[in-house]
Amino acid sequence: MLKIDLRSDTVTRPSQAMLNAMISSPVGDDVWGDDPTILKLEAMVAERFGTEKALFCVSGTQANQIALMSHLSPGDEVICHPYAHIYNYEGGGIAANAHASVTFTGDNRGIMHPEGVLGCIKADDVHYPKSRVLALENTSNKGGGTCYEWEEIEALRAVASKHGLTFHLDGARLYNALVAKNQSENDYGTAFDSISICLSKGLGAPVGSVLLGSEEFIHHSRRIRKRIGGGWRQAGLLAGAAIYALENNVDRLAEDHAAAKDMAEFLAQQSWVKNVVAPETNILIFGLNEDMDQEAFIATLAEKGIGISQMGPGKCRMVFHLDITPAGIKKVKEALASI
Ligand SMILES: Cc1ncc(COP(=O)(O)O)c(C=O)c1O
Repeated sequence: MLKIDLRSDTVTRPSQAMLNAMISSPVGDDVWGDDPTILKLEAMVAERFGTEKALFCVSGTQANQIALMSHLSPGDEVICHPYAHIYNYEGGGIAANAHASVTFTGDNRGIMHPEGVLGCIKADDVHYPKSRVLALENTSNKGGGTCYEWEEIEALRAVASKHGLTFHLDGARLYNALVAKNQSENDYGTAFDSISICLSKGLGAPVGSVLLGSEEFIHHSRRIRKRIGGGWRQAGLLAGAAIYALENNVDRLAEDHAAAKDMAEFLAQQSWVKNVVAPETNILIFGLNEDMDQEAFIATLAEKGIGISQMGPGKCRMVFHLDITPAGIKKVKEALASI
């Protein structure tokens, strides 16, 4: 078993305090609409973001895919970044679930820009797919936990509004961006038509994501969630963990960001490291010199009980989260220094 698991922030275990919150959460049957803790979570997140409604979902993938199925008709097109999780890591869901096509634009930090988006929008011509959804990811996972400036979001919102595109945000790690950039939940809730947020990443809940949007959109999304088997019953136990995470684990994300920055500085001093992407939040991406084998490097660390992951060639990834202690970081540095 990996003792220091930097593969992802999805690996966190619920703390004793979170477990206590879970077992003391009253439950009902959510398909019947009467699980009080789920209702409380959905109302709480909708209030924070100023959206009409929220829907508690099993995972970030499920929340994104429900949103896309809700927004898209067969033959429509999604404009997203080539690094986008919705395209690369959701099992081909855009095609399989929404029967839609995809087109890409964006820079090597995982960030999209208005001029690129404008270049993707198709004329209304029977030859082309119909440009329908503009989907952002903040923070960008494959980009290295990078975040948008608020002005960039506003500019993209303006493009979406002008061209009739639905504006979706994969906000799996939106709270990291909010903390790093000191941005407001309410601004995001106003700018986007739909947002998915994960509670089970840096916020430390064992399971769960929330999808946000208008009453009509969430009503439709609830139907889709049921259709794909995501109608759950006494999941208030999980909503209890999510509420605990939102009440206790947001501000501390800054500690993970500081840990990623500190490790980036350490890695930059190692002779076998080719490049380090300066981290903006809790994700640290770095590449190895040509004479180093990426898979063997990851395996060597795993033998020492240290888990890291990769996102393609030249992209080793460490993700910092609430189960990574200062003592663990010291051990990781010792192991890296001995490479
Ligand atoms: C940016 C992004 N979106 C969505 C997801 C999907 O979340 P889940 O693993 O809960 O399906 C992830 C998971 O790592 C992610 O990084």
